[in-house]
Amino acid sequence: MPIDMSDKTILKIEDLHLNFPIYQGAVHAINGVSLYVDEGEIVGIVGESGSAKSVTAMAALRLLPKGSFRLTNGNITMLGHDILKISEAEMNSLRGNQVAMIFQEPQTALNPTKTIGKQMFKVIQLHTGKKRKEARNLALCLLQDMRINDAEEILQRYPFELSGGMRQRILIGLAFACSPRLLVADEPTTALDVTVQRQVLQLMRAKARKTSTAILFISHDLALVSQFCDRIYVMYAGSIVEEGPTKLVLSAPAHPYTQALVRALPESSTKGQRLESIPGTVPKLTIKQEACSFRERCDHAHDLCVKIPSLVMSGVKTQKAACWLLEKVR
Ligand SMILES: Nc1ncnc2c1ncn2[C@@H]1O[C@H](COP(=O)(O)OP(=O)(O)OP(=O)(O)O)[C@@H](O)[C@H]1O
Ligand SMILES: [Mg+2]
Repeated sequence: MPIDMSDKTILKIEDLHLNFPIYQGAVHAINGVSLYVDEGEIVGIVGESGSAKSVTAMAALRLLPKGSFRLTNGNITMLGHDILKISEAEMNSLRGNQVAMIFQEPQTALNPTKTIGKQMFKVIQLHTGKKRKEARNLALCLLQDMRINDAEEILQRYPFELSGGMRQRILIGLAFACSPRLLVADEPTTALDVTVQRQVLQLMRAKARKTSTAILFISHDLALVSQFCDRIYVMYAGSIVEEGPTKLVLSAPAHPYTQALVRALPESSTKGQRLESIPGTVPKLTIKQEACSFRERCDHAHDLCVKIPSLVMSGVKTQKAACWLLEKVR
């Protein structure tokens, strides 16, 4: 399905279908995902574990191991490049110079045997071509933007001498070294405690706003995504089930899955009441979905739900959901 596109679009994924061949069959991980990220926007992908948030990001960055997957349909465009066609050298140059990434397990991203300074200078010199002194100055600026006051001293330290929050702030700072147009952050703060998570994300957002960097922020935590993103995509079993501006989606979720996620937010429960959870589990991805993948867990499921619903407007132009309930009221 074609998606809205403006000149400012940095990343555009159109109707992507991707599976992983396994012994006797395949894992149908991505089933018709379309999304876009515009310049300077902070866009969230939220969904339960296994909904294909990471696989979508990895596919967009062409980081899935060759031969491990089959891409059966779709297009991916990033900064005007056809990601499915460009050479490895072009892809490397895009990833190094215009697109930065922070992944789910950041604690392993720093080399334990080298000081923070050595590692930062090397990355900065590699990506920007700066001389060592300039690289050092940039490293200090990046650390200061991440509110690391004793930056000079931190450069002398080894990763194990620092807290997880501090290491993550360093990595986020470093991700901005090449002034990327897009930062893909996959659960960048999951390993940190809640208060540190919010501090780190606020710093990341402030830096992105300052440099007009777009962020694709991936998380299973709707509360976190809602505080941080301009727009969100809600994923379920490899498909987008709802999309729209964060405030709209949160205040008036249109898809029963999003409604259940919103009800499960701590803020939405009254004191003394039990928090809601969503009964049931995500469908097996080894079976190709021919029906709405949420219907087994949905209180509103009816006859039409044996077919896959498409994303339609939920009444407000910018908000869409894939649910037959919306088709019925149109
Ligand atoms: N190499 C692979 N081979 C087979 N299946 C895979 C492979 N990589 C991912 N998958 C499957 O694809 C689906 C989506 O995985 P993905 O890691 O994208 O989920 P996620 O939404 O990022 O979950 P989480 O919140 O746990 O990070 C899962 O069912 C996963 O098991
Ligand atoms: Mg993931």
